[in-house]
Amino acid sequence: MKSVLLGLVTALAAPVSSTFVVQCYSRLFDQRIDPIVNPGVAATHVHTVSGGNGFSATTDFAKARASKCSTCNIYQDNSMYWSPKLYFKAQNGSFLSVPIIGDNGGGNLGGMAIYYLTRGGPNNDKLRAFPPGFRMLAGDSNKRHSTDDFAGRAVTHKCVGVDGPDTKHLPKTKCDTIRVQVVFPSCWDGKNVDSTNHKSHVSYPKDGNFDGGRCPSTHPVHLATLFYEVYYDTKGFKNMWYGDKQPFVFANGDGTGYGYHGDFLNGWDEKALQKALDTCKDGVQNCEAKVFGNMRSQGEAQACKLPTMVSEQVNGVLPALPGCNPVTYGPAAAPSSSSCAAPKLSLKVNAQYLGYVDVTKNKGWKYIGCGKDVAGSRTLSSAQTSGNTMTVEKCIDFCKSKGTKYAGLEYSGECYCGNNVSADRAPVSGSVGNCLMKCSGNANQVCGGAGAISLYQTCSGGACTNSVKRKSRRLAALELGQANAVPRAEVLEAAV
Ligand SMILES: *[C@@H]1O[C@H](CO)[C@@H](O)[C@H](O)[C@H]1NC(C)=O
Ligand SMILES: *[C@@H]1O[C@H](CO)[C@@H](O)[C@H](O)[C@H]1NC(C)=O
Repeated sequence: MKSVLLGLVTALAAPVSSTFVVQCYSRLFDQRIDPIVNPGVAATHVHTVSGGNGFSATTDFAKARASKCSTCNIYQDNSMYWSPKLYFKAQNGSFLSVPIIGDNGGGNLGGMAIYYLTRGGPNNDKLRAFPPGFRMLAGDSNKRHSTDDFAGRAVTHKCVGVDGPDTKHLPKTKCDTIRVQVVFPSCWDGKNVDSTNHKSHVSYPKDGNFDGGRCPSTHPVHLATLFYEVYYDTKGFKNMWYGDKQPFVFANGDGTGYGYHGDFLNGWDEKALQKALDTCKDGVQNCEAKVFGNMRSQGEAQACKLPTMVSEQVNGVLPALPGCNPVTYGPAAAPSSSSCAAPKLSLKVNAQYLGYVDVTKNKGWKYIGCGKDVAGSRTLSSAQTSGNTMTVEKCIDFCKSKGTKYAGLEYSGECYCGNNVSADRAPVSGSVGNCLMKCSGNANQVCGGAGAISLYQTCSGGACTNSVKRKSRRLAALELGQANAVPRAEVLEAAV
């Protein structure tokens, strides 16, 4: 029996006063997509992305609000939260992706916590909800040295479990877990929902601290102070250190930690956020439940996934950081990414990124999507087999021999057969689900996930079309705002 492990939850700190927390239990994906800094094209570096599944290279407020699910727990919030992904630079020059606590070998299961500090500063200013269309950045991707201004203090790293203050740079000793945080500016000019550098419409306070204090007259409207917290699981790399530098690098080529940053795109129901800002003050217990009511479960948040949009490998062992991101250690700022051409992206999406195998022709079965499963009450219960040589074809052959209508693959090596998929276990429209694990017998195939089942159905004479398909290049180009261009980023969709 396999169960979903609740890694992230235990890692999250208990909320402090004047705070509410959006628990992003999981991620939509890790990709080179950034609708704020690189709209419509492949972004310069890989981000880990949490939030509403309306996320794309051209997301705006309306698309965020129209999300059908989110990887975070508050139904009223379809905001998107992203930051650069962490890698380990090995002695031989390869880059290894670093899991986030909660991934548990099951793909992008882990997530991040988003704190909303409801601090109005010494004058106890009324806080305003983020307006529709609002977006902002915190941190500076090219920064490679320490500064003591509020922007410099707003990015911190911590070797979890080891005494000592948070540091502005990545830990210089071996850690089981590295926590990274970035605090956003909380003062707004009251007029512009964005600005050319995505920063100057907001400001850190003029005094006090970067996460408190009074707003300057140029930016008089006090907002919530947002901060992101991500826990990276660095245990597995402790015996791989070498040389005289700490070996972790962020996806933007930052070997110091000073260049860590966060991107925020508002997708809130404005009234609900305003109510939370007014309610979640000192001494109010369980304010999230009071304000937001029923919340999304961890399983539901983890089932909200987006298919790959940029056809390249971002996990596992990589010869270089995706994009063009030479690793730099400062103190000089990193060169602007435009001075270095990123490798051309392939337009052919490798089958493993699509999450299914096309067996319509050789088997006469079709992929119907990624459903849910629960140990103890199986989605498909007529027959089962498992092993360390499982493939999609093997499972289908097994279920064929049992005469069932459906075949499902789960947790890398498990195969289930049955004749019925109940509605509450069926693939969810608009979400590709959490089927991200490689098959035990073929690393280029996907065999479900934890509590997630890759479902195939016999065509038996009927139409034989997989329900996840590649968008036409033209549609993808339109979506990317490049009607006449060949898209640089490939867009896929779940057509269920
Ligand atoms: C480089 O070293 C890492 C860590 O030992 C290993 O996983 C990877 O396969 C190596 N890369 C190559 C190209 O051999
Ligand atoms: C599955 O079973 C339910 C009742 O348990 C039934 O309503 C539904 O039609 C069945 N679906 C299929 C596809 O057989």
